[in-house]
Amino acid sequence: MTTPDVPDLRTLLRAPAQTPAQTPVPAPAAVPTPVPADVPAAPAEVPGVPAPVPAGTPAAPAPVPTAAPEDALAALPATAPGGFTPEQARKDVPILHRTVNGHPLVWLDNGATTQKPRQVIEALSAYYGAANSNIHRGAHTMAREATELYEAGRTAVAEFLGAASPENIAFVRGTTEGINLVAQSWGRSVLQPGDEILVPVLEHHSNIVPWQLLAKETHARVVPVPLTPEGEIDQKAYADLLSARTQLVVVSQASNVLGTVPPVAEMAALAHRYDARVLVDGAQAVAHMPVDVRRLGADFYVFSGHKLFAPTGIGALYMTPEMMGAMRPWQGGGNMIESVSFERTTFAPVPHLLEAGTGHISGVVGLLAAIDWLRSFDREAVTAYENALMTYATQAMATVPGLEVIGSAAERIAVLTFTLAGHDPASVADWLDRDGIAVRAGHHCAQPALAHYGLESAARASFALYNTSDEVDQLVASLRRLQAGA
Ligand code: ALA
Repeated sequence: MTTPDVPDLRTLLRAPAQTPAQTPVPAPAAVPTPVPADVPAAPAEVPGVPAPVPAGTPAAPAPVPTAAPEDALAALPATAPGGFTPEQARKDVPILHRTVNGHPLVWLDNGATTQKPRQVIEALSAYYGAANSNIHRGAHTMAREATELYEAGRTAVAEFLGAASPENIAFVRGTTEGINLVAQSWGRSVLQPGDEILVPVLEHHSNIVPWQLLAKETHARVVPVPLTPEGEIDQKAYADLLSARTQLVVVSQASNVLGTVPPVAEMAALAHRYDARVLVDGAQAVAHMPVDVRRLGADFYVFSGHKLFAPTGIGALYMTPEMMGAMRPWQGGGNMIESVSFERTTFAPVPHLLEAGTGHISGVVGLLAAIDWLRSFDREAVTAYENALMTYATQAMATVPGLEVIGSAAERIAVLTFTLAGHDPASVADWLDRDGIAVRAGHHCAQPALAHYGLESAARASFALYNTSDEVDQLVASLRRLQAGA
């Protein structure tokens, strides 16, 4: 049996370029998919996942109250300004409709990874079912189609970030690889002994360790920028630390552990006065707020697809044209060259220079579908909804005896990192898991930020556009039961 030609993959996998609207991207129609479009309200628990019931706890946890604790709060408005409701997103995300340990899943580990809409899952299936080919190097129809798709992904990322051109975008595995790429491709040839890299204490390890490694190689110095008690970057200290020695300032657009959203544009403008470059880690920001790299003043911007509803293993690095010109070959191999001989090898221009080997083509397809999905919502309305949810969650969490939220920056994404008196964070996460609630516990790859609060570990609930106030109520009710010794 044969299936027909796929005449236009961009039609199959991507709606035509659209301005943000309330129109969801249509699901691909031509390719069969294992994921049903209409997900049952509560499919059975995924088989083979045993329900852990530690000794001393009831086999079946008490039913989770759905109402907020009565001493809690005003209800979250059903519809956020701009008309966004989480149900618009939830209906597209099949995994949110499974159960865990006998309870409907409450996914509050979005800081670690986000769940995938069926548009992304179906795009991957459609790509492998009808369009799989290597890119760039084949002289056949499918290679050309796959190349077009890959480059359409580059264009989509450029538009999504507000970049001037697709050429400003290189595909990487994720934020960590993007930062390491900048350290090796740019930093190694630029940094001199005595140069300084300013790194705020709230950074993720992936925005600390590559700079430590680079500093060791180049005899440059990593200079920590302190935090205020609220968990904001101390702007006065930052201004004082900048100097003619500063070559690079790195900063997260949103902290994965404190949620802090620093004044990145102001920090970048100040850094540029010293002729320093600015790398912005957008891993935790991209899913939560519209991004404009040029308005931010980022010289480099990196993010991971999997925190943006796309697959793991794909991410992007944005570079200004000036930084593109300063990039040196990083990994050598196919795709990054113009010609190779034993006498002389010449190189392809950036971004291809930075993309040795076969790229994660299906990952780019998934990223393209994820960006289209996200852009089908009014992004400002999504941000307003998440802010309202964060306010609601902050008030609700305050009703749990002994619960302390870490960090109180004026501007935060919807991340609540907390400790609970009498319980270590790992056992809090275990307890919540028994109620089907997924949170992360540990050092969150941000040990200096936690150390700022005298902590080695904490629990973290991190929200996304598909989370609801009901889920916050379930989290709070479960924590209150834990504190009550239920
Ligand atoms: N950086 C991810 C997190 O914060 C893994 O959980």
